[in-house]
Amino acid sequence: METVHVGLGDRAYDIHIGQGLLGRAGALIGQISNRKRMMIVTEENVAALHLQTLQDGLAAAGIESEALVLPAGESTKSWPYYEQTVEWLLAQKVERKDLVIAFGGGVIGDLTGFAAATMRRGVGFVQIPTSLLAQVDSSVGGKTGINAPQGKNLIGAFHQPSLVLADIDVLGTMTSRDFLSGYGEVVKYGLLGDAAFFDWLEEYGPKLAAGDVSARIAAVKRSCEMKADIVERDETEQGDRALLNLGHTFCHALEAATGYGDRLLHGEGVAIGCALAFELSSRLGICSQEDPSRVRAHLKAMGMKVDLTDIDGDLPSAEALVDLMGQDKKVVDGQLRFILARGIGEAFVTADVPRDAVVQVLKDNVA
Ligand code: GLY
Repeated sequence: METVHVGLGDRAYDIHIGQGLLGRAGALIGQISNRKRMMIVTEENVAALHLQTLQDGLAAAGIESEALVLPAGESTKSWPYYEQTVEWLLAQKVERKDLVIAFGGGVIGDLTGFAAATMRRGVGFVQIPTSLLAQVDSSVGGKTGINAPQGKNLIGAFHQPSLVLADIDVLGTMTSRDFLSGYGEVVKYGLLGDAAFFDWLEEYGPKLAAGDVSARIAAVKRSCEMKADIVERDETEQGDRALLNLGHTFCHALEAATGYGDRLLHGEGVAIGCALAFELSSRLGICSQEDPSRVRAHLKAMGMKVDLTDIDGDLPSAEALVDLMGQDKKVVDGQLRFILARGIGEAFVTADVPRDAVVQVLKDNVA
């Protein structure tokens, strides 16, 4: 088992990464809590595949558990299910010193974390992420929340988990499309801050997609280390944390245009967004022309979506997509912030991007 420490003072915690962690969940959680009863919030697909293993793993350490099984899918990250979750947890008499377990992908992690943040002015929680995307991104760093009719993640709080258990075995039940979508966030880490990691992914990416366990552990570990490092520097996104949004300004517009559903998964949008961010950086003379070509070549080699034309169905015009970017919650004083790159592994945040250049990159991408 590998462990990454997130050094946030009195909110510090460990991320354990390895095989068979569900079966050892009771012993691992027992290292940070002596509670003998725990509430699990999960969703139906994860419950069918893995809930028994987790509950057995808790029971092995003498921990009883109850589970709330919610519907799978993005629409669960909303007021009605938030209300249901909080009321269920209150009915279970959850106290401040208890630990609520978020057992699922990003939707369950964000929803459960937000319920924990707001109940009794803050109850502890453990993230047990079951998708690659959640293991490398959403379960780490304390962003919790739900969607509003006006946009994604508009209702939320920073609330760090007390522990994260990333069990690599559960990735084996993901569809290849969902796995590769999560891989979009893995590539993002190399692109934003670690050129050597990107080199490594060029070599090991196909192996980890094919199921190589040590490659998966190494990739999740490096991603979590990079996220931990950034979150330690800037927990509440006053500055550097925005680097984690490489590719996301484009991605949010594309997700809004495609309805946040099956046409474009989040990590697919991130991958396309990263390719576009490098193209934009190169057009603005900030990075070399070879960099966007290398990014695209790797995504293509992994069988991922790279261009707007890889998205099924019609998209709005380039102008309309840029308008959609303006509705992102990361807009500051009406200025769009972009993450651009001076090269692979050298991303930076800027508000200084001419709208015309963005429009042109989008137009050329579909041409
Ligand atoms: N997923 C971006 C962040 O946690 O800041």
